[in-house]
Amino acid sequence: MSRKNQTLGEFIIENQSSFKYTSGELSRLINSIRLAAKVVNHEVNKAGLVDIIGAAGDTNIQGEDQQKLDVYANEKFIQTLTNRNIVCGIASEEEDDFISINSQDENNQNKYVVLIDPLDGSSNIDVNVSVGTIFSIYRRVTPVGTPVTIDDFLQKGNQQVAAGYVVYGTSTMLVYTTGDGVNGFTLNPALGTLYLSHPNMQFPEDGNIYSINEGNYNHFPQGVKDYLKYCQKEEDNRPYTSRYIGSLVSDFHRNMIKGGIYIYPKSSKNAAGKLRLLYECNPMAYIAEQANGKASDGFTRILDIEPTELHQRVPFFCGSTNMVEKAEEFMQNAE
Ligand code: AHG
Ligand code: MN
Ligand code: MN
Repeated sequence: MSRKNQTLGEFIIENQSSFKYTSGELSRLINSIRLAAKVVNHEVNKAGLVDIIGAAGDTNIQGEDQQKLDVYANEKFIQTLTNRNIVCGIASEEEDDFISINSQDENNQNKYVVLIDPLDGSSNIDVNVSVGTIFSIYRRVTPVGTPVTIDDFLQKGNQQVAAGYVVYGTSTMLVYTTGDGVNGFTLNPALGTLYLSHPNMQFPEDGNIYSINEGNYNHFPQGVKDYLKYCQKEEDNRPYTSRYIGSLVSDFHRNMIKGGIYIYPKSSKNAAGKLRLLYECNPMAYIAEQANGKASDGFTRILDIEPTELHQRVPFFCGSTNMVEKAEEFMQNAE
């Protein structure tokens, strides 16, 4: 259920009962992410002032160290989720190992673990281009009241109970799913309130945008090279348009609204591509599927891949269903 002028807070409460586990714990968790996102948003918006208020590594006027934004975002998300005692474990792209939160305490009945890419597209910060945050939520598989283990984090993407992203763009949006479609909320910065602006988001079945770092063309597998030639051919509604921001969140967000495909393939330089299965590909794949799109590694559905390590990388093809299927066809034919 959604209505005009609905805030994220209202939406979470009103939709809590449609979620199959209705303890309210997941709602509190999404609320914490909402809070951390606003704090990070505030800091991201000040990034352009860095030469005035001091660069990373400097000490600011209060004697505090200035931090790089990805470190800052990482700390804020971890702090918010830890302080509010909402989850039993966190894994972050910025941390070598997972973090266990009071999970050996028998009073801690928290059932959820969160995996995050606190700042995605971080190379874009210095040039005032959109960045994002990606999150992925699972129920732990080990018993409550015991320390979390690696098994709680190495779950297949199809076990996710919620996933979402924040895009810090021309406006800031939080987009998420709990397995019942995808909804987008836009921040009104004057009020600090997120309003439902994009109910029930859907990838168009087809599209005409392809997003890939074509500078790596010579290193791509033959199937990707062939697909790119197909995208560029003067035929039917092609050539397609090429758009690549270099922030997965922003490229995905545009493609979901307009129709398109994002590809980060393996290459002769990176045998498994660049993107991380647990922090980037699984959450985006879950959102894509919930929005009628598709995500694969070129051959296999992303959400069915069995993770073997926390920072595992996989090739990523994600977007409008017909486009992803076409790209897969080229991958298979080139085998
Ligand atoms: P992160 O900033 O979290 O390391 O992720 C950057 C990712 C992704 O957002 C983006 O699409 C891709 O890396 C860009 O990589 P290239 O510069 O190799 O194209
Ligand atoms: Mn990233
Ligand atoms: Mn990152």
